[in-house]
Amino acid sequence: MLLELSLLFGLLTLIALIFVIKSGRKPRPRRLRMGVFLDKPAINKEFKSGSGPCDSAYCSVSMQGWRTEMEDSARAIPDLGALDPKLKGWSFYAVFDGHAGMRASEASCDQLIECILPRLEVFDGEYNPNYVSTSLREAFLEMDVRLRKELTSKPIHDRSGTTAVAALLSDKHVFIANCGDSRGLVARDGKVFFASSDHKPYCDIEKKRIEAAGGAVLMQRVNGSLAVSRALGDFDYKAQPKLKPICQLVSPEPDVEILERCQEDQFLLLACDGVWDVMENDEVVDLIGSRLMVSESLERTTAGLLEKSLYKNSRDNMTAILVTLPAAPKFSQDAAQKDIDLVEEAKPLMQEKISEYIRLCKANSSEPQLHVVMQELVTTLDPVYEIPLRQDYVEEKINEMMKTPPKDSNSTGSPLEKKLPVSPLAK
Ligand SMILES: *[C@@H]1O[C@H](CO)[C@@H](O)[C@H](O)[C@H]1NC(C)=O
Ligand SMILES: *[C@@H]1O[C@H](CO)[C@@H](O)[C@H](O)[C@H]1NC(C)=O
Ligand SMILES: *[C@@H]1O[C@H](CO)[C@@H](O)[C@H](O)[C@H]1NC(C)=O
Ligand SMILES: *[C@@H]1O[C@H](CO)[C@@H](O)[C@H](O)[C@H]1NC(C)=O
Repeated sequence: MLLELSLLFGLLTLIALIFVIKSGRKPRPRRLRMGVFLDKPAINKEFKSGSGPCDSAYCSVSMQGWRTEMEDSARAIPDLGALDPKLKGWSFYAVFDGHAGMRASEASCDQLIECILPRLEVFDGEYNPNYVSTSLREAFLEMDVRLRKELTSKPIHDRSGTTAVAALLSDKHVFIANCGDSRGLVARDGKVFFASSDHKPYCDIEKKRIEAAGGAVLMQRVNGSLAVSRALGDFDYKAQPKLKPICQLVSPEPDVEILERCQEDQFLLLACDGVWDVMENDEVVDLIGSRLMVSESLERTTAGLLEKSLYKNSRDNMTAILVTLPAAPKFSQDAAQKDIDLVEEAKPLMQEKISEYIRLCKANSSEPQLHVVMQELVTTLDPVYEIPLRQDYVEEKINEMMKTPPKDSNSTGSPLEKKLPVSPLAK
């Protein structure tokens, strides 16, 4: 009887296990993980990358500071020909930054492209750029109508909203549509060629509309609460029955820019305000330009942008898409070697501080935390070393030092150290 019971139990466990595995969500993109010794919560990044038409490539990255799961908030369709043959060679990229919940950003991430495609009139590769621009504008407005149905129909009343910045690329043009305070930027010839304007409540046009709609801008926010003045969703702020959608406190209308492509175009970047709050446009162009030369990995370059932003202000949720165009700076052995030399120069300085930190951690039996060490290094070492980009080294060093007592101290007989298992990462 007992045997049968335990057999039955074993069988049930197996079935449950299979069910769990099968019902698991689609495999998540590759993820960078923290070392075994480092205290959670972890800083995870999720990447998607690939190549597009006309010698372009893209990488999207989402980083959610202290949580393990991140909802998608970026969309990359490098060749729209896959969805509509007449758009072969066109690309679509978009970044959505949600607030007050995820529904608006998730739905827009899925459906904005559905609102755009049927509107595009392209025949044998020919099109009128002004029509494309109008199509993008109308698509944003339609997306907002769809959201209203989805979010405000009974029984739910969802208050979420999302900013949206989207780019359409053909072989002749880049179209950038922006609604809210995410930003799209195009770098040409090593400089900022175009950057979209952020829709903040205190901007003149925005303030006028808000006041005309009976609201006020207080503490730089719409009615003292919402920090962005255009967005999809946010239907609490679009509730005046007499006003058109584009005249409400919060408007779904995008600014659309038509840029003619040229041979010197280096890259397009779409990113949420977590990046722009702490980085100037020029700084971003310099950083990406120089990182493209020292690393062949677009993931490393894109991650570097978010790491740098993170350690400048620690706002945790960030999303960006980098699209390299034919004139993007190319990997150079020379630049890579210079970067390696720089890291070598910084290593003793970093080691000294890391080992001091580890000593304190061992003394008070606490787990080391990567972001605490990083913050310390970033604020005390020369900016020339680009410490925010050296996180992998710092992580490796912490793991190494946690396994062996620091050379300079002979008295770390802390109980913690003895309890630690041998790291599988041990060399
Ligand atoms: C914004 O403020 C105005 C004036 O105080 C008020 O009439 C309106 O209901 C407020 N709207 C929202 C969504 O807070
Ligand atoms: C990060 O995203 C989560 C939802 O995934 C949200 O609850 C949280 O407020 C966001 N944090 C910031 C700082 O935006
Ligand atoms: C232990 O020391 C480290 C390094 O100074 C510090 O960051 C951490 O907060 C301390 N932990 C406790 C529990 O005091
Ligand atoms: C470590 O401590 C022992 C005994 O206390 C001493 O003999 C030895 O010289 C010390 N080693 C170092 C590297 O300080």
